[in-house]
Amino acid sequence: SSLKAFRSSFLDFIADPFYVSELESVRYIPDGLLVLEDGKIKEIGTYDSLQHKYKEISITAYPGMLIMPGFIDTHVHFPQLEMIASYGEQLLTWLNKYTFPTEGKFKDKTYAQKVAAIFLDELLKNGTTTALVFATVHPESVDAFFEEANRRHLRTIAGKVMMDRNAPDFLTDTAETSYQETKALIQKWHKKDRLLYAVTPRFAITSTNEQLQIAGRLLQEFPDVYLHTHISENVDEVAFVKQLFPESQGYLDVYDRAGLVGDRSVFAHGVHLTDAEFHRLSQANAAIAFCPTSNLFLGSGLFRIETAKSKDYPVKVGLGTDVGGGTSVSLLQTANEAYKIAQLRQQKLSPFQTLFLATLGGAKALNLEAKIGNFNPGKEADFVVLDPRATPLMAFRNSDATPTSLEELAERIFTLVIMGDDRAIHATYIMGGLVMGNG
Ligand code: GUN
Ligand code: FE
Repeated sequence: SSLKAFRSSFLDFIADPFYVSELESVRYIPDGLLVLEDGKIKEIGTYDSLQHKYKEISITAYPGMLIMPGFIDTHVHFPQLEMIASYGEQLLTWLNKYTFPTEGKFKDKTYAQKVAAIFLDELLKNGTTTALVFATVHPESVDAFFEEANRRHLRTIAGKVMMDRNAPDFLTDTAETSYQETKALIQKWHKKDRLLYAVTPRFAITSTNEQLQIAGRLLQEFPDVYLHTHISENVDEVAFVKQLFPESQGYLDVYDRAGLVGDRSVFAHGVHLTDAEFHRLSQANAAIAFCPTSNLFLGSGLFRIETAKSKDYPVKVGLGTDVGGGTSVSLLQTANEAYKIAQLRQQKLSPFQTLFLATLGGAKALNLEAKIGNFNPGKEADFVVLDPRATPLMAFRNSDATPTSLEELAERIFTLVIMGDDRAIHATYIMGGLVMGNG
């Protein structure tokens, strides 16, 4: 077996800071040692307490840095990377004008492979080590994505988009072909190495009820795959869904009637969900991907995170970049905008809460808490080395002293969230191996 160790400051979460105090949820080790064995966490503790046990192994030191678990993006579209920052529209017109023509290109597997490689390298550069990803309607786009993800040994979840109406002909499947193609892709990719599959109807507008029922059938036939879709993002979208499914009680009920609301379901956005819908998500132990940069950029609205994170009806929440509706691949920048959306609603997200959402909160939302999300022994060693003094302004803002209290640490990490982006990612490690940045 191969042992490796890292000496630096370490921050991770051992409980949810929305529900318990920061003293109970934050694990901070100012001078720590992280020990890995065969790409997994063996132990973590203070340098002083552990160094005598590991005298013979070489230690990689990152003085002045802060090491955290890799960031988790709970909703993103890899084919939309190239159309980030498309001007002037809200959701439904944005889809028709920019998104659908772009996604049409991904029938070409070579093209899809090229974009997938650029996309994944961009994620790693930004410290994102796991993502839940939309491909396009084309099975080739899923093959291309999973091949590139597997080449990088990433724990990623993805799926072929199912869409059989209200979209151009070049981008639609049928209920029957979406069933056959999805089934074949699940059999090919689900649980291959670190890869996992998500059944991915785009949203209620682009699927017939027949296709949604078929998505539900796939979930029954393959009980451990995910369900990934969009919900209640935009006011016009919600109204259109009401018109398309007059027999349903509401948007979530459309999915519920197809058997799509369960503990492995991830719904992107949820900006316009009702209280009753939040309660139903809580009861089903389903998750929401909060996509702040996208909700601002597309003018969709302000997500009610305090309702999702209520103690009476807790809903699992992760952060999603939602690129290309979102404007940044960086989860630091996504957390920054999440904080500002809370501000606009007279709510407060603490520095620790924002970074919880980007790490352990995301792992919980994706039901991957047993594998990733913090530095507990046995977990997979995907982590990021953050540089709190990455830019001249950040170095001016942050002293070179290591924070010694949670209060000092909160101030330090808040500057990372508000000012940080890919420049603050000093290095990214996958399964204990350096994949991006400085060793
Ligand atoms: N709803 C349905 N499709 C999409 C998409 O591609 N992006 C966003 N943001 N919302 C959607
Ligand atoms: Fe999206």
